[in-house]
Amino acid sequence: MEQIIIFDTTLRDGEQAPGASLTSEQKLEIAYQLENLGVDVIEAGFPIASPDDFRAVSLVSENIRKSIVCGLARCLKSDIEAAYNSLKKAKQSRIHIFLATSKIHLKYKFKKAQDEILELARSATKLARNYCSDIEFSPEDATRSERDFLFKVIEAAIKEGARTINIPDTVGYSYPQEVYSLISDIINNVPNINKAIIAIHCHDDLGLATANSLSAVLSGARQIHCTINGIGERAGNASLEEVVMALKVRKDAFSNFFTKINTQEIYRTSHLVSTLTGFVVPPNKAIVGENAFRHESGIHQDAIIKKRITYEIMNPRDVGVSKSQLVLGKHSGRHALARRLKTLGFKLDEKKVKVIFKRFKDLADKKKDIFDDDLIALVEQERGDKKKVYELMAIKNITGTDVIPQATVKIKYKGKIFTAKSSGDGPVDATCKAIDKITHLKPKLLSYKLEAITRGKDAQGMVRVEITLKGKNIIGRGSSTDILEASAKAYLDALNRAV
Ligand code: KIV
Ligand code: ZN
Repeated sequence: MEQIIIFDTTLRDGEQAPGASLTSEQKLEIAYQLENLGVDVIEAGFPIASPDDFRAVSLVSENIRKSIVCGLARCLKSDIEAAYNSLKKAKQSRIHIFLATSKIHLKYKFKKAQDEILELARSATKLARNYCSDIEFSPEDATRSERDFLFKVIEAAIKEGARTINIPDTVGYSYPQEVYSLISDIINNVPNINKAIIAIHCHDDLGLATANSLSAVLSGARQIHCTINGIGERAGNASLEEVVMALKVRKDAFSNFFTKINTQEIYRTSHLVSTLTGFVVPPNKAIVGENAFRHESGIHQDAIIKKRITYEIMNPRDVGVSKSQLVLGKHSGRHALARRLKTLGFKLDEKKVKVIFKRFKDLADKKKDIFDDDLIALVEQERGDKKKVYELMAIKNITGTDVIPQATVKIKYKGKIFTAKSSGDGPVDATCKAIDKITHLKPKLLSYKLEAITRGKDAQGMVRVEITLKGKNIIGRGSSTDILEASAKAYLDALNRAV
């Protein structure tokens, strides 16, 4: 049996998804869960891209012990050094360098000839190899590259010490047979290919990322790049849950392969990533969508009762799907809460549990049943609160069918309390306008979504907003049993992320 290495890039390519932005602490939280899930490599970020990215990769490096921690770099000295510095504290580190090899990129992006690119690949791999023994090299846009040139670049990178050669379908242009023949051609035409592991990195622009990744495995790739929930640039990347479960469920076709993923952690990981990024999982999403294991038609329901395998190709429990349980209530104590938070995958010290316990008691006064999702929202709120530039202290709304909606907000900014009042087309509009009077930022609200976090009339509402400010789109989230308070929190969350 051969292992398929799972290289998770949720924190790098996933975070490049438009609107997704994670704080370093949120990235660390996801990294812990990826480690629980059993991923082999965590690509934690692109350290040169921003001080935040650098900090996130450093934080993940310091705390993750089982998975290899990887940082991305272009074939530039400054990038490679930033990656090296951010990975210094990692127990096992990898530098992932990339350089485009397609004619389109050479002509329009670099304005460089093939010889220059080949030399750059050579020198950058050599430099990176001086800093780190584990180097992965990606010829970006490989699937649209001229094959002979691609072979030469790969050969050079391996010669200079790259241990893994990743083949990116950067723009999601390829299809399964083509990927299969490309990997076969690489194996047959790169003389030193046996010294490296071949990886595959697929984007989903044509909805083929999972199929292409599996095709690569059948052809000889032994590492798959993927993200939780398939988030990533544009249409996203190959989704971890899909490739892993396809390998597992279709053992007949992939009999030779296994992954080290603990599949029962899939659902929890998906949920965490969705909550922290604000990217809602579509109900029909394979494996982790709300409807993935629901059976609506009577014929199906009847058959399922007779024999599950009639309409279910996998057991929901194998991916950790269980209904949001009633876990705690008003009378639950701190130990019960701490235990439940631990089961949910949170690593929190005594002090943090104490703060969350206080919030938990406040919430239990407002709603009778506290579900897992409520707890996740509480932890999220606690995390967000620490970093707030603008903090909501109070909100009052007047609304109804025969009045002009009005909002009064009290916000703490730099230690001082500011109050503003505004009217608007609706109570949410009035709230945002009142906030704008204090922040003077005036972003444009692009979208607004409200969802109940759990069931019941007293469920907390989770509001997700997308704003645009100074040319950047930012997502914010907020939750409360009061949907207008949740709206104000979400709007402020986006502003806090922006500033
Ligand atoms: O899609 C891509 O080509 C990438 C590279 C950096 C590997 O993400
Ligand atoms: Zn990519």
